[in-house]
Amino acid sequence: MQKSTLLLAIQLFFSGAAMAAPAIDMDYVNAVMSGGDTTVIFKRESIQAFRNPAANLSEEEVRRHMAGDALFERNFSDDPGRFDHGLGPVYNNTNCNACHAKDGRGALPVLPIGQEKVLLRQNEAVFLRISIEDGLKKVKSAANHWGAPVPVPGFSDQLFHLGSYGLREDLEGAGQAQVWMSFEKSTFTYPDGSTVELRKPIFTVTSPYDQYFDSVTGQMRSRLFEKDVKMGPRMGTPMIGLGLLEAIKESDIRALAARDLSAEGVHGQVNMVFDIQKSMAGDPYPVSMGRFGLKNNTPSVFHQSLGALRGDIGVTNYAFPDESIVGTALYDKFIATRPPLPEPQASKEVADDLVFYSRTLAVPSRRNVENPIVIRGANLFHQTSCTSCHQPSFVTGHHEIPAFANQKIYPYTDMLLHDMGPGLADGRQDFDATGNQWKTRPLWGMGQTQTINPRAGFLHDGRARTLEEAILWHGGEAEYSKTRFAQLPKEDRIALIQFIRSL
Ligand code: HEC
Ligand code: HEC
Repeated sequence: MQKSTLLLAIQLFFSGAAMAAPAIDMDYVNAVMSGGDTTVIFKRESIQAFRNPAANLSEEEVRRHMAGDALFERNFSDDPGRFDHGLGPVYNNTNCNACHAKDGRGALPVLPIGQEKVLLRQNEAVFLRISIEDGLKKVKSAANHWGAPVPVPGFSDQLFHLGSYGLREDLEGAGQAQVWMSFEKSTFTYPDGSTVELRKPIFTVTSPYDQYFDSVTGQMRSRLFEKDVKMGPRMGTPMIGLGLLEAIKESDIRALAARDLSAEGVHGQVNMVFDIQKSMAGDPYPVSMGRFGLKNNTPSVFHQSLGALRGDIGVTNYAFPDESIVGTALYDKFIATRPPLPEPQASKEVADDLVFYSRTLAVPSRRNVENPIVIRGANLFHQTSCTSCHQPSFVTGHHEIPAFANQKIYPYTDMLLHDMGPGLADGRQDFDATGNQWKTRPLWGMGQTQTINPRAGFLHDGRARTLEEAILWHGGEAEYSKTRFAQLPKEDRIALIQFIRSL
């Protein structure tokens, strides 16, 4: 009797373990070539670590990559007489590289000493996505743009804080509104009593172009100040390995979403989003799995990059031929004084080269994999369940660019959305992603991030100054894992971070 109970317990234990998740392939502990054959080898940290074409591209492909590289750094101009025209009439920055610094990430603005808040001016890598919560259940259809966020009437789905000359007579250089940033500080206390100061950027908006004085309430009013408007900050992300992320098999991502990790409170979710390429091809249901953007809100590098060209910079192109603010009073007033430029402003060649570049940046190799502290940290990364979301490895499937097909890669992301708790939430729905959900960020290249841009911040809005702060912000589905991290002795916490530094 006792024996069979024991047997049952053993069986239950093993079947339970098998159901919980496909075992994590622990070969990541020593893996050096994070991007498979695309990897560029770096023996030590380098400011150039993210700026290289994938190592296995053909000569012709490298030439195209280089053409795209120049465009990625091109400062677009709003002077219609120049060859590089197209900037504006509203925008968040003038070139791709300004927000994706040296193909890495951006940084939050610096608060001038003695000041509580700072105005976002030229050359900021952070901007606000905006939309209104319409309260409708999103059954995707053409009528609701396949479940896309609803733009704020008179604005767009992104707040453009910069504008072309002559757009705002009242505020030269401003876009739809001005955006200010301040910090809210808090303290995390470890079980061992040591503390870490955390900071979160808070954004406020002033001077929207539609504002007026309401004599009844005695306040300034604007559509942007209505209660149904949601705003979420976004920081420019690293550009490495994006072609490889496109090549991860959809079935592999779905299998990760289907895992039962309820014991840890983890439930990864797919985002199904509008796909401009399917739409251009006349597909009646232009919806695909989201893979890019901080909430997986775009399906491909093509969609994301040309959306950024039109949105972030204001340069229309064959995928997005209309300015983001077409149909708003601000646009109508602007074109009344200045005839619109011929559309699209970027040629097909410019657009395609930018996309090719964005798809083909190499992942750098890992460093210090033999270091015993790094090895210990790599094992702790699994023991504290970081791997439940930061899935260490995949073997890629087919890709249009052969260099990315059939590669064993180590991106440390399950490509899924997770509820990360109220501390990180922006409260803004994006297709199927809720206001609490974010995509698990890939961790490859993490150790090079602040070599490339010393002020670069981690997480979706760049709030975390260190890897430790980034981990301590984890909540929601990651609460279990974060707590296990916090309970580690200090030298183990340091070892785990040293592992991330080796990536
Ligand atoms: C004003 C800053 C800014 C500019 C300019 C900008 N980006 Fe981005 N980029 C971002 C932000 C912020 C995100 C994350 C967007 C989101 O989650 O909604 C992003 C995301 C991306 C991604 C997806 C990366 C990932 O891992 O999901 C690609 C690709 C990209 N940008 C390409 C470009 C290209 C190409 C250009 C120039 C045409 C460009 N970006 C210009 C800020 C910028
Ligand atoms: C429940 C899923 C989940 C677990 C478990 C988890 N993470 Fe994350 N991690 C995320 C998500 C989602 C983000 C992105 C959050 C954001 O953008 O604000 C993230 C972001 C990060 C970042 C910042 C990445 C960047 O590019 O800025 C680091 C570093 C990180 N995680 C490390 C860890 C470590 C270490 C552990 C284990 C102690 C862990 N994570 C456990 C989901 C998870």
